[in-house]
Formats: sequence, C-alpha cells, structure tokens
Amino acid sequence: MSIRVVETIADLRAAVAGARREGATIGFVPTMGALHAGHARLVEVAREETDFVVVSIFVNPTQFGPKEDFSRYPRTLESDLAICGDAGAALVFTPSVEAIYPPSPGPRTYVEVPGLSDILEGASRPGHFRGVATVVMKLFQMVQPDVAFFGRKDFQQLRVIEKMTSDLDLPVRIRPVATVRESDGLAMSSRNRYLDDAQRKAATVLSRALRAAENAVTAGERDADRVRQILVETIESESSALLDYAEVADAATLEALARISPGQPAVALLAARVGPARLIDNAILPEVVEDADQGPQE
Ligand code: PAJ
Repeated sequence: MSIRVVETIADLRAAVAGARREGATIGFVPTMGALHAGHARLVEVAREETDFVVVSIFVNPTQFGPKEDFSRYPRTLESDLAICGDAGAALVFTPSVEAIYPPSPGPRTYVEVPGLSDILEGASRPGHFRGVATVVMKLFQMVQPDVAFFGRKDFQQLRVIEKMTSDLDLPVRIRPVATVRESDGLAMSSRNRYLDDAQRKAATVLSRALRAAENAVTAGERDADRVRQILVETIESESSALLDYAEVADAATLEALARISPGQPAVALLAARVGPARLIDNAILPEVVEDADQGPQE
C-alpha cells in the first residue's frame, strides 16, 4: 500500500471514510514527529492489528510550557514519512497549528483528567497533560479510530489517555506498546537528539537506575522508600544528570506506594535532566508473590 499524506481535517476524514467503506479497521498512532524506532514499533504493531493505519505528526504547542522546547523541537518530516511508509502506515496526517487550533473567540474547550495529571510529570510541567488530553481527544474525533496505540515509554501519558477514554466513553481501544530501547538500555526518544556524545553516555543512568531498582525487588526488597533511594543514588552517581523526580507508584493509579505487595503491580518512574534534554523513563517492577521481609506464608 502506498502512503498518502494529508494536511487538512477534511482530507483526513475523507480518506478514513473511504477505508471504512471498504471494511477496514482503523488504527491510529499519534506522534509529534522526529520519529525513531520506538514510533516505528507502534506503527508496526498497529499494522499487525488493524487494516488501515493513520499516523499523525503534530508538534502540539498546548502541551509545552512557556520555557520548554516547542520552538526547537526537532522537525524531520522527510525521514518521518519514510519511517511511516516502511512500518506500514497508510495515511500520515500533518496538520498546521492553524488547522488544529483555528482562531476562536473566547476561551477554548479543553479536556482535563484531574488527579493523574497533577502528579509526577504534571507537577513538573503544569498544564502539560491538559494539552495532551485535549489534542488527543481532538485527534480521536478527527480520525475516529478503532484502536489507538501508545508507548509505555510515556507511562503517565498512557494512564491519562486510558482514563479520559474510559471516563468519556470514547469508542476506541487503547493499546499500550512496550518501550523500545537502544542496545545500551537508553529509551528511544526524540529528545535524545539534543545530547552530545558524553551526555548520550550519561543518559544511560536512567535505565541503569531502573535496572538497579528491579534487581533490588527481585532480591527481596519490599520497602518502596528503599527502592526510591536506589533510584536517587544511582542518578546522583552520574554527575551530569540532575534528578527531577524518582517515584515508586501503584501502576494503575500512579499513587506513591509505601510497600511493594503481592497483587499490586508497581512502577518505578524517573525524570532527569542531562545537559539540554529532560528525559523520562519507567519500569514495571517485578511481580512479588509473597512479602519477602516476612518470609513465605504458611
Ligand atoms: P511523541 O513523544 O512523538 O510520542 C508518540 C508516541 O510514541 C507515544 O505514544 C509515545 O509513548 C511513543 N514512544 C515514544 N518513544 C517510545 C519508545 N522508545 N518506545 C515505545 N514507544 C515510544 O507522546 C507524544 O508524542 C504526544 O504527547 C502525543 C500523544 C502525540 C500528543 O501530542
């Protein structure tokens, strides 16, 4: 199937409607471009599980804070289109900012997922998840996909989108996809392009910290504060990394945990600045079958 690029909402709707008339199921992968193997994986999974895959490429201004990297966010359309084509996308939607946010009198309508949006990334980046939820809601209305694919790399974003979809009864299934990593463990990210060679090496400290946390839980650690401490100490061992947050949280609600317990999946979440880049990563911690501190239950 040859890939098609559309820039307007009308062209997008017409192309998707055409595919639907042919009986195709619609898969959707929203992105901000600067695509890499992580994005490609989302498109490949989408192609395996749906018939007609739409990728959006839109650097969404409303999810960037005033001091963030909106204007210098990498824009690499030509290589993005090649990656989309190779991974099996049928349609790429590349709207302008004016197409998504046309001039509108008075304050705009937005989507807010309270609670989940205010902690961790949301605490560091006020308004970020409101911008994400609103643009994803708008894109869902435009594409009307059967299934939308989101990376676990942005774990909190995935939870925000799942909550929005469930709370607002959106007729779309959210399909999480595992994080794609470089061979040295660094999670692939469009922002890795900001790193020079030394910073690129230092950036592996995030995945090293997560591995250390996983190993501690495997070895029997159940005290979430001690696991947090391992994360903090590992990040602090790398002099060019500046920790933003390190948390051990309930994987469903993202609320901080005191203990890692059987039947309650836990996730370790990290954000750190390395040189010019703010990087995030996370890992689901190993499932625990019994409380190791108390020994096996009779
Ligand atoms: P962006 O950062 O471009 O990411 C697009 C999708 O790719 C997200 O679902 C993200 O989790 C996934 N992704 C990024 N790196 C990944 C990796 N290493 N492995 C697996 N998946 C990865 O997230 C956004 O854009 C925006 O917030 C968006 C949802 C498009 C709304 O503007």
